[in-house]
Amino acid sequence: MKMNLVKDVMARVAGTVAVVLLGAGVFASPDVSAGIANTKHNLGSSTGPAERVNSFSGTGEICVFCHTPHGSDTSASVPLWNRVLSSPTIYTTYNSLGTSSLDGSTAPVGSVSLACLSCHDGTQAMNVMINQPGSGGYNAAGGTLAGTWTGDHQTDGKIADGLITLIGKDLRNDHPIGIQYAGGPKAGTVPAAPAAYSSTAFRDGDFKDTKSAVLNGQSVWWVDTSVGTAGSREKTDMQLYTRADVTSVNKDGDGNSMTLSGAQPYVECASCHDPHTENTTFLRIPNTGSAVCLACHTK
Ligand code: HEC
Ligand code: HEC
Ligand code: HEC
Ligand code: HEC
Repeated sequence: MKMNLVKDVMARVAGTVAVVLLGAGVFASPDVSAGIANTKHNLGSSTGPAERVNSFSGTGEICVFCHTPHGSDTSASVPLWNRVLSSPTIYTTYNSLGTSSLDGSTAPVGSVSLACLSCHDGTQAMNVMINQPGSGGYNAAGGTLAGTWTGDHQTDGKIADGLITLIGKDLRNDHPIGIQYAGGPKAGTVPAAPAAYSSTAFRDGDFKDTKSAVLNGQSVWWVDTSVGTAGSREKTDMQLYTRADVTSVNKDGDGNSMTLSGAQPYVECASCHDPHTENTTFLRIPNTGSAVCLACHTK
């Protein structure tokens, strides 16, 4: 009895703390820039957080290292993208390890992952951009913004060798990306949103059901986390990225090849990460108790 009472009080205290923290978060970051300015993704010369190592003298802007209001790369599936993307063929993907447990089919490196890798593969300096700040700085092939880098987590503006942050071109030692969610569908196609895409429809039953909606005429899928409002798509949910550009060949229930086409959900870098958040290591939700992993995996 007494134990239960103590537990109950503890739970209530924890609840209060959570509410207070949530309130603080809302007031501390009223918009996206207040968040990202306090992170390692603030690469410019403006004031950044204490833990930031790399910064560049050439501009005090923040967004320009990734986005431009005009002249962006329209081949990128990331809004208003200001960086040159590598060819997908330079990467070695996780599926080439050949683990027998992998059910899903792997698409060429693309979607938002290719955008993250435009810095995190270490092949391109971070001050190379399509449209530089100010007037007259457009170069579709990427121009080098003048300035000086400081911080020993970079070499000539490329993320430095020997850091895990340098994901590199060999993706075999990273969580699979460009991978179908939950092994792909059992039958020929993923049910178009907003129909349910759940364990009766996908092949690997060890995954959480997705939510789905039609937004801007396109099917989108996500996995709800316990943070935020249940059922609505928020940045604290695990985002699945709709890839309509790939024809995947995966195995059906009988082990025969099955060709799939049409829009379907994939896991990409930004499924787990939000590049603007102040959460540790840019995770969509804190990974306490492996909450990130358990958002998708039923384990
Ligand atoms: C380090 C790279 C990077 C920087 C810097 C950056 N972004 Fe982004 N941004 C991204 C990526 C990658 C996406 C796509 C993410 C996704 O698909 O969820 C994105 C998506 C967005 C979106 C659409 C999706 C959403 O979350 O609302 C908006 C709006 C946005 N960024 C605004 C900004 C603004 C404003 C700034 C500067 C204050 C900024 N970003 C700085 C990488 C960046
Ligand atoms: C414009 C270049 C650029 C782009 C694009 C970019 N990043 Fe980064 N990212 C960096 C730099 C620089 C750091 C800090 C490296 C360091 O100091 O070790 C970093 C750090 C990180 C970290 C580690 C944070 C920490 O606390 O150690 C994560 C996670 C990360 N980025 C994820 C992403 C993801 C996911 C995307 C795409 C959605 C992305 N980044 C896009 C430049 C970039
Ligand atoms: C399935 C979820 C998931 C996916 C997909 C994912 N990450 Fe991560 N990533 C994580 C988690 C969780 C951490 C924190 C690990 C830790 O705390 O040690 C992390 C850490 C990182 C770090 C910081 C590493 C360090 O210790 O300094 C970087 C950089 C990073 N991720 C970039 C990426 C990029 C780029 C991609 C896509 C190529 C990607 N991530 C895809 C979950 C993911
Ligand atoms: C956004 C959803 C999502 C999140 C979050 C996620 N995973 Fe995964 N994970 C997947 C998918 C999809 C696969 C591929 C499953 C398949 O095809 O068999 C996978 C595969 C794996 C595999 C098996 C790879 C193989 O060779 O069979 C491991 C291990 C794994 N994830 C661990 C983790 C860990 C640890 C975390 C947390 C850091 C995590 N995952 C977070 C979706 C996710």
